[in-house]
Amino acid sequence: MLQSATDHEPTPVHRGRSDGRRRPGAATSEATRLTAESIGILGLGAYAPERVMTNADWAARVDTSDEWIVSRTGIEERRFAAPGETSVDFAVAAAERALADAGLAARQIDEIILATDTPEMYSPDTAAFVQDRLGAREIPAFDMAGSGCAGFLLAVDVARSRAREGGKKILVAAVELISRLMSWEDRETCVLFGDAAGAVVVGPGARAARILAATAGTDGNKAGILGLEAGGTRVPFSLEAARAGLHQKVVMHGREVFREAVRRMSEAATTVLEQAGVGLADVALVVPHQANRRILDAVARRLGLPAEKMFSNIRLYGNTGSASIPLALTQAREQGRFRPGDLVLLTSFGAGFHWAAMLLRF
Ligand code: UT7
Repeated sequence: MLQSATDHEPTPVHRGRSDGRRRPGAATSEATRLTAESIGILGLGAYAPERVMTNADWAARVDTSDEWIVSRTGIEERRFAAPGETSVDFAVAAAERALADAGLAARQIDEIILATDTPEMYSPDTAAFVQDRLGAREIPAFDMAGSGCAGFLLAVDVARSRAREGGKKILVAAVELISRLMSWEDRETCVLFGDAAGAVVVGPGARAARILAATAGTDGNKAGILGLEAGGTRVPFSLEAARAGLHQKVVMHGREVFREAVRRMSEAATTVLEQAGVGLADVALVVPHQANRRILDAVARRLGLPAEKMFSNIRLYGNTGSASIPLALTQAREQGRFRPGDLVLLTSFGAGFHWAAMLLRF
């Protein structure tokens, strides 16, 4: 299990002199003693909305069938936000659960990093609203937007290095309300996605789930294969573009995305195992980005991983973008799929193309 607040090692930046004044440079010298391996996940949590959208619901709206969706993706249902619910509501719900799990109050957080492709609004970023709603101090809070389904692990990796330098406790949240922004008429994409949020607290702690290794990469040459073009400077918001449906038009070359997802998620997984000097047999569970059941099966085959070590919740939640790994990790822990001391491998892939993987010791 993850640690409670009382188990936490003191955080160096908070260790002051009894007169409340910090020796110049003291925080820095103490902070430099933190190694990458002393940073870990102090707590985690997730949120999925109540509303269930089944394959039959989709078949009533677009030219598709339960048989096609299940056979091609493994998805049977997904959750969608209720009217009025927004990305901030989702992120705050997941963040509060992660903070409670870490035994921390919002005011003890030193930074917030939020991964999303479906922000609250164009500007300011979602993290600003989350800082306010949580009642956090006036700390740095910022989004890492547009990294697709790899966004969560990229944000955790950034949090890891920032926590290492300052001994900070950093809230990382990932949120997607894809149902609100996608086309409900495009059968090639709409049936794949679901809404959710997940969060972790990253920081130093003797009994944290240690981040043993991490890797990430980008191939921007493939940016045109998966993405949403309208809304940026290339195709600005306009009535004309909106009427043409461009603001909901997700471009996706499914087969190429499929192939690259299998290759990159497998290779990234192998990289973190090599970095940590452990074998796949040492890993208790792989928690991958939930893109497609067949992608996960192909990754398992490529790695030589027994099916029972590949966690999947895609049947009930679909592809929840950047939220999929923290949602799956939270559920895997609830289901007792890993125990204290176990190695858990996370691997992801998304638009960009971006990919990232991470090895944790719980
Ligand atoms: O996180 C990143 C997000 N994206 C992904 O992860 C997508 C990765 N790719 C995939 O998951 C798969 O490529 C898909 C599930 C999207 C498609 O599966 P596939 O086995 O690659 O399908 P396909 O290319 O063999 O078949 C596509 C056919 C087309 O019909 P024709 O041209 O063969 O007659 C589509 O029009 O399936 C048709 N199709 C559908 N039919 C019924 C596409 N979507 C649907 C649908 N219902 N919802």
